[in-house]
Parts: sequence; structure tokens; C-alpha cells
Amino acid sequence: MAFVPFDRPVRAAFIGLGRIYDLNVLGYRGNPDVEVVALVDPDQQRLAQRQADWPDAATFSSAAELAASGIQVDAAEVLLPVPLHADGVVEMLGWGWHVNLQKPMCNDLLDAQRMLDAAKASGRVLRVMENYLFYEPLRRLKAVVESGEIGEVVGYHMKMVGSGNGGWHVPWSSFEWQLEQIGRGRGILVFDDGWHKLSTARWLFGPIKQVRSWIGTTSFGSGIDLDAPTMIAWEHACGVRGVWDITLAPDLYLRSDYYTNDERWEITGNKGFARVNRCTGRGIQQPSLEVYSDGEMRGYHALDDDWASSFRDSGRHWLRWLQTGEGPLLWSGEEAVEVLRFALAAYASSAADGIGVNPGQVV
Ligand SMILES: NC(=O)c1ccc[n+]([C@@H]2O[C@H](COP(=O)([O-])OP(=O)(O)OC[C@H]3O[C@@H](n4cnc5c(N)ncnc54)[C@H](O)[C@@H]3O)[C@@H](O)[C@H]2O)c1
Repeated sequence: MAFVPFDRPVRAAFIGLGRIYDLNVLGYRGNPDVEVVALVDPDQQRLAQRQADWPDAATFSSAAELAASGIQVDAAEVLLPVPLHADGVVEMLGWGWHVNLQKPMCNDLLDAQRMLDAAKASGRVLRVMENYLFYEPLRRLKAVVESGEIGEVVGYHMKMVGSGNGGWHVPWSSFEWQLEQIGRGRGILVFDDGWHKLSTARWLFGPIKQVRSWIGTTSFGSGIDLDAPTMIAWEHACGVRGVWDITLAPDLYLRSDYYTNDERWEITGNKGFARVNRCTGRGIQQPSLEVYSDGEMRGYHALDDDWASSFRDSGRHWLRWLQTGEGPLLWSGEEAVEVLRFALAAYASSAADGIGVNPGQVV
């Protein structure tokens, strides 16, 4: 069934009103493309708190109650804990709702296929949002590289240092399901936050043909096993190689309005380099993008480098897309499966002492 664009504001429901709602909501506020008709969360306190944003929206403890209520929903903004993604999304697509899902899509290929099948069967659109692809310094980085300013790309590097010191408050309840994920071998650094880094790699240089990795563990007791130190390297089908190192520095204080992650992307060309110095946290407080070429360094001082803006723009993109059906979804369900395969290939490689694994062949 072909998608038919809406010619009126989309009636949307937020499913899950936890920590990340605070940023996802930015694409919805003051947006004429959408009318928020319902809020869903089993936590009554959260419902009451978020109702202040949308006084006219109806509130429910479960998506099933909303579906049975007779309130018409066109699209769901799904902000559920990851262990609930697959069943929740299959159910919502079955009710005829389009779905904008937070990452990671799900834990394995079987669940991913169930979700794609449900979208096909219902003729509804499944998007797995990737806010990093809307972060202006990264968008500008891509444009700089594509312009040829640093010459031909000869390789690139991503860096992430996880720290527990600084940033916004994350309630313990948001960690509980992460512990469940850790127990299933889907760690916070490589799989949860890492999903973004793997996404940016796929977005920058296209499909991946081989991954080699060495995933470590740092244990803090009580099942809190963080997946660092880790090194992952890969080659794209276009021949460009990338490498990503993940380090844990638990006591490193990092100024941040959000999570405490020190992140960098550095692309080397045969006559220069371009580097994004930060993203979620404020590690290096130089211009968020710097470009060195022909003996000169250029700093971009006026980019919208507030990480929250990437959520706003990703949400607006989705809601506009529903009005036009035009342009890339960033990501479609199928593209998100490629990101999942990239992560699964990293796990398979690490389990086999770092051999090269083709993401297209993981099962
Ligand atoms: N893009 C990013 O950078 C980013 C950052 C953080 C989290 N996330 C993703 O966002 C999602 C949510 O993460 P979070 O940190 O907000 O988690 P959270 O635990 O803070 O919030 C989840 C909310 O879902 C509610 N919930 C639980 N079961 C429910 C159900 N059956 N129906 C409706 N609501 C239910 C909980 O009560 C809670 O309010 C996850 O997929 C996570 O990976 C993405």
C-alpha cells in the first residue's frame, strides 16, 4: 500500500514519557504539522507532569487502552524502553498507526523482521529516528567532506569517552531496563549509545563490508558491566576505513546539559582534515567543527551545536515527511536494520577474536 501524505495536522500520541521525552517533544512544540491527541505511560506521575505540555491530550496507562478508546491516532512517537520496542511497535503498526521509534530499533534480526513485516502488512511507515543525523556540526562535516575541501578521504576516526560525572539527572528507573539489556549482551556504550556512532558511519560513507572488533568489559558489580575498553574498525564498500574507540573514565567531570559523553569525529583527507569536537557534552569547547586544509584552520563558531536541536529537527523532519512523503526518512526501517547488522557484526567479530565479519552475513 503506497503512503498517502496527510493534508491536515497529524494526530499523534506519545508512547513513553520518560527521560528522552524532554528532547523528543521539541519537534512537536509549536509545530502546525501535528496535533498531540494522547499521552501514554503506566507511571501516573509522568502522565500528570507531561499533561502540562498538552492540556487537551487524553491520557492512558497503556497503548492498548488508547487504541480501544476510539480516539483517532495517525502516528505514534514511541519512546519505550528498548526491551519493549519490538512487541510494542508490531502492536501499534497493527492498529494502523505510523511509528516514529527511538533507537536502538531492537536487539536481534528476528525482531527486526517482525517489525518490518508488521509495517508491510499494515501499509504503515516505520521510522527509526536518528537525531545525530540532524546535528548541525555533523551535517556540516558531511558537506565539507563532500565538497572536496579536504581532498580525497583516506580514513576517519570516532572517539567516545563515557563518564558518570556531570550532566542531567537520569532516574534509576531509566537504568533498570538498561541492566536488562546488558544481561542480554547489548551494552550501553556499544549498542545503546553506540547505535548513533554506527549510524553516523553508515550515513557518512555508505554500506559496510567488513567489521573487526575487540569489545571489553569494566565491571562495577551488581550486574553493572560496561562495555569498554572497546575498539571497532570497519571498511565501507567504497573502500574508506573507519575506527572507533570507546573508553570509560567514570570520574571524569564533563560539563553537559544532557548525558556525559565526550565525543569526536575526525575525517582525514589527502590534503586536510575536518573534526567535530563535541556533541552531547561540552568536552572540547573550541568551535564544534574545525577544518584544516592547505595550511589553514577554519573554525565554525556559529553552528547550532546544542545537541537538543538535533531532536527538534529530527522530529520536525518526520512530521513534515508525513505531510509530503518526500525525502529520506533517516532512517527507514530497512536502513535501521543495516545499523543493527553493523552492531551484530561487531559482536560476532569480538566473540571470534577480532576476525573480519561481513554485516550482510550475520544471522
Ligand atoms: N536518541 C538518543 O540519544 C536517546 C537518548 C536516550 C534514550 N533514547 C532511547 O529512548 C527510549 C526511551 O529511553 P528513556 O531514557 O526515555 O527511558 P525511560 O526509562 O526514562 O522512559 C521510558 C518510559 O516508558 C514508560 N513505559 C514503560 N512501559 C511502558 C508501556 N508499556 N507503555 C507506555 N509507556 C511505558 C516508562 O514508565 C517511562 O516513563 C529508548 O529507546 C532509549 O534507547 C535515545
